[in-house]
Amino acid sequence: MDRVVSGIRPTGFLHLGNYFGALRNFIKMQEENECFFFIADYHSLTTHPTPLDLQSNVRNILIEYIAAGLDPEKATIYVQSDVPQVCELSLLLSMNVYIGELQRVASFKEKVRRQPDNVNAGLLTYPVLMAADILLHRADKVPVGKDQEQHLEMTRDFAQRFNRIYKNEYFKLPVAYNFGSELVKIPGLDGSTKMSKSDNENSCIYLADAPEVIRKKVMKAVSDSGPTEPGQPKTQAVENLFQLMKAVSTPDTLQYFEDQYQNCAIRYGDMKKQLAADMIAFVQPVYERILELREKDDYIRKVAREGADRARESAAKTIKEVREIIGIKSF
Ligand code: TYM
Repeated sequence: MDRVVSGIRPTGFLHLGNYFGALRNFIKMQEENECFFFIADYHSLTTHPTPLDLQSNVRNILIEYIAAGLDPEKATIYVQSDVPQVCELSLLLSMNVYIGELQRVASFKEKVRRQPDNVNAGLLTYPVLMAADILLHRADKVPVGKDQEQHLEMTRDFAQRFNRIYKNEYFKLPVAYNFGSELVKIPGLDGSTKMSKSDNENSCIYLADAPEVIRKKVMKAVSDSGPTEPGQPKTQAVENLFQLMKAVSTPDTLQYFEDQYQNCAIRYGDMKKQLAADMIAFVQPVYERILELREKDDYIRKVAREGADRARESAAKTIKEVREIIGIKSF
């Protein structure tokens, strides 16, 4: 059985980008693999959340993982900071990671550009901690969206480097779990190419959005004044609407609006109405489970406790073996 590891930062509620990037197909995934899904609370500290926000966001993601279909009986669900071995592995890996390669990472460069007042060391070493998350359970596959591709490549580099330095094949080289297709990047409703909470709240559809909230956001989505001649290329905003429709609607529906676009007969109001209805149908079962689970505090705590126990067991084994390989011995 392959091992699958994936994480999500607790920065708010899960949106459709997270769902299609990291969680799609995970009902099948947890049947066929040994899965570890965690909440990357250490990673989220780079943005300095308040203690209260951090706690409630961790709880939200726990609930949303389960509501979206992760089964705690089949998969290990845990909070990253409940498994402190990840810090040790991150430290050990960091000895063979070079500052220059970390400074060249696209997500780091973007953070430097966007938030020049908070270029903390945690941002720089972010890919090392992420590699430690993955290698801690000696993962084979990592379900992620397109934006995490470079981090995953670095994980393979660090694993390979460790194997080379210590002349063994201890770490496997984990690959993206791409469900047989390209890694996805779900666009936003505001015309941006990536659905992302940090850009604009209204660009995201959350799994915890009530139907009327979804409808309002979709009806306000950015479009344009419509094509004026057949075959006219789509603007980014309109391309986004089609991509979102591809994610949640049937192929027939998508084809219908594609034809309408090509014939210059498209009415974006109708398209948005359909898109909203299909998104609501997609999100509603998850939304309802979220509401139920919010009332089940004891159950949520139990899932986190048991998940942490299982994850720590797996982590402890790796750390013991890595220490031996490196030559760390206790007297
Ligand atoms: P994060 O928290 O930003 O996002 C969680 C997951 O959602 C995916 N994602 C998207 N996929 C498609 N379209 C989008 N618009 C979109 N937005 C987000 C991300 O690719 C990701 O899979 N560094 C990670 C968290 C992490 C991790 C790990 C992931 C820490 N350690 C180990 C995997 C394995 C992150 O910031 O993801």
